[in-house]
Amino acid sequence: HVPLEDYDLSQPLNTKAGLRQGLTAYGDAHFSLFLRKAFIKAAGYGEDALTRPVIGIINTHSGFNPCHANVPQLIEAVKRGVQLNGGLPIEFPTISLHESFASPTSMYLRNLMSMDTEEMIKAQPLDACIMIGGCDKTVPAQLMGGISANTPVLPLVTGPMMPGSHRGARIGACTDCRNNWAAYRAGLMDIEEIAAINDELAPTSGTCGVMGTASTMACITAALGLMPLRGASAPAVSATRLRVAEETGKNAVSAVSDEHRPQQILTRESFLNAITVLQAIGGSTNAVVHLMAILNRHPGVAGTIALDTFDEIGKKTPLLVDLKPSGDNYMTDFHNAGGMIALLQTLRPLLYLSARSITGQTLGEVLDASVAHDFPYSHEIIRPLSNPLYPCSSIVVLRGNLAPGGAVIKASASKDRRLLNHTGPAVVFSDTGDLARRIDDRDLAVTPDSVLVLKSIGPIGHPGMPEAGLIPIPRKLGAVGVQDMLRLSDGRMSGTAGGTIVLHISPESALVDSVFGIVEDGDIIRCNVENRILQLEVPDQEIARRISERKTAKENLSRKEKGKRRGYRGLYERSVNQAEHGADFDFLTAAGPA
Ligand code: FES
Ligand code: MG
Repeated sequence: HVPLEDYDLSQPLNTKAGLRQGLTAYGDAHFSLFLRKAFIKAAGYGEDALTRPVIGIINTHSGFNPCHANVPQLIEAVKRGVQLNGGLPIEFPTISLHESFASPTSMYLRNLMSMDTEEMIKAQPLDACIMIGGCDKTVPAQLMGGISANTPVLPLVTGPMMPGSHRGARIGACTDCRNNWAAYRAGLMDIEEIAAINDELAPTSGTCGVMGTASTMACITAALGLMPLRGASAPAVSATRLRVAEETGKNAVSAVSDEHRPQQILTRESFLNAITVLQAIGGSTNAVVHLMAILNRHPGVAGTIALDTFDEIGKKTPLLVDLKPSGDNYMTDFHNAGGMIALLQTLRPLLYLSARSITGQTLGEVLDASVAHDFPYSHEIIRPLSNPLYPCSSIVVLRGNLAPGGAVIKASASKDRRLLNHTGPAVVFSDTGDLARRIDDRDLAVTPDSVLVLKSIGPIGHPGMPEAGLIPIPRKLGAVGVQDMLRLSDGRMSGTAGGTIVLHISPESALVDSVFGIVEDGDIIRCNVENRILQLEVPDQEIARRISERKTAKENLSRKEKGKRRGYRGLYERSVNQAEHGADFDFLTAAGPA
C-alpha cells in the first residue's frame, strides 16, 4: 500500500503518480483510483495515454452562440497541439453565454458561468485547462473562475468576425447595427435596404468586429500574458486562429507546474498593463467592471487596484487605436496592422516589462523577440505616441455626492465635448419602463441643457446591470438636431456605443441609502470631467430627509422585494456587489462574503 501523501498530486490519472483528488471518497485511495481508471478506460484511453499530463479543454460551443461557432475546429487544433507535445487532451462543457440570447441580460449570468468554470476545473482531474471563450461575458467569467480555481489556465478566444459589405461600404456588428437602425427609423432607408444590411452585419462566425467588449477583453487577456499576443485579433475564420489554438495546446502542456498557476503569474503589474491597454485601445467601459471582478478574485492583487487606478493610468495613456466606435476601422485592420504586438511595442515606455506570461517569458522578452518585424505596419490604425487619436483619459472615473462609490464615463466617445463640463436640471426616469413610456412624449419637460437620469439599471436594480445606459435623445429634441446630451445611470452601455454618458453610478438607486436613488426632476446636477466631479446640487439636509423617507417606505416592502426570492435570482440579489467592485458575488471574491 502506498500512503496517500506519497501520491504525486500533479499527475491526476497516472497509477505511478496517483490521483489529484477524490482518492478518499470511499475511504480507500486505491479503490478510488481503480474505479477512476476503469471509467476513463471506457473512453478508449490506453495505459500510455493515462500517464500523460491531462489538459482540460472547456467547450463553450452552443447552438445559441454564433460567436462561438468555430469552437469545434478550435478544439481539434488545440488537441493536436496538446498531443504533439505529449499531453492528453480531454474536453468538457460549461455554460455558454451570447449577448443576444441571455435574458434578462448576459451580465446577470456572468457570475454563474464563473462558478461553473471554477468548480468544474477544481472538480475534475486535470493538470492545466484551456478555456475557450469569446463573446462578451464568457472571457471575464472564465478569467474569474480560472483565477479562483488557481489551476494553470490558458484562455483561447474565438476571434473577431470579418466585416461585411453593403453597397461598397464595409459594415460590422455592432456599431453599424445601431447607426443603420437609426437611419431606418428616421425614414432614411427602406425595408429592403435594412434587410440587406441585416444579412451583412455579422457575416461570419466570431465575436463583434469592432472594439466592443469582446475585442477589448481579448486584448486585455493578451496583455495579462495569458494568451499569445496575436491571439487577441486573429480572425475567427482564419488559419492563424487555428495555429494560435494549436500553439495554446502546446503551451498548456508546458504550463503544468506550480509557477504557471494564475495567482503566481498575475501580479499587480500585469493588471496595470491591462488597464494601460484598455485606455490605449479606447476599450469598452464594461471592461472596467470585468477587470475589477477579475482582479478581486486574486488574493495577491485584490485591494491594491481600485477604480481610481484606471483614472491615474488614463491620465498618462493616449488613445492610439483607430477602431469603431471611437474611430473608423475593424478588428481585422487592427490585426493586419500588427495587433497587440504592435500596440505593446508602441506602449512600451508605459508598460511593466517584467510582468510574466504563461510561457514563462517576461513581457519584455516577448516584445524583444518581435522587434525585428518592424511593427506596426500601419500608423493609421495604430498611432504612434506622438500622434494619438485622443490625448489621454479615454475612460474617466468621476466622484462626488452623487457617486461616492464612483462612476465611469468614456470621454473619448462624447459627441458634444461641451457637455463634458455641464450643469443642468435633471429629468428623471424611474426605470426602463418609465423611460420607454415618456422619452418621446411631446409634453416631456426637457431642453438640450437637461440632464437625463435613468434609475434602476444597476446590478440589483434590473437585475444584471443591463446595457441601457445609452438613453435615447428625446424625439422632439432629436427632430431639431440635438445629437448628444449629458446622460446618467447606474447601468452599463454597449462597448460599441457613444455619447456623453455617465455609467456605473454607485451606490446604485436600488439601494436604500443611494443618493442617486433620491434625485428628483429639476434637481441641479453638475458634471465636470476635467475635475472628475459628479455632484448633486441639493443641500445635505434635504438629501438626508429624502433618504430617511425612502427607508420608511422600504420597510413596508413584501418578502419578495426584500430580496428573499428563491433560486438564482435570490442568490444574485443577496450577493452581488456594486460596480466598482466588479458586480461579482461577495462570496466569490478573494476577501469572501461582506
Ligand atoms: Fe458575441 Fe458581440 S454578440 S461578441
Ligand atoms: Mg456588448
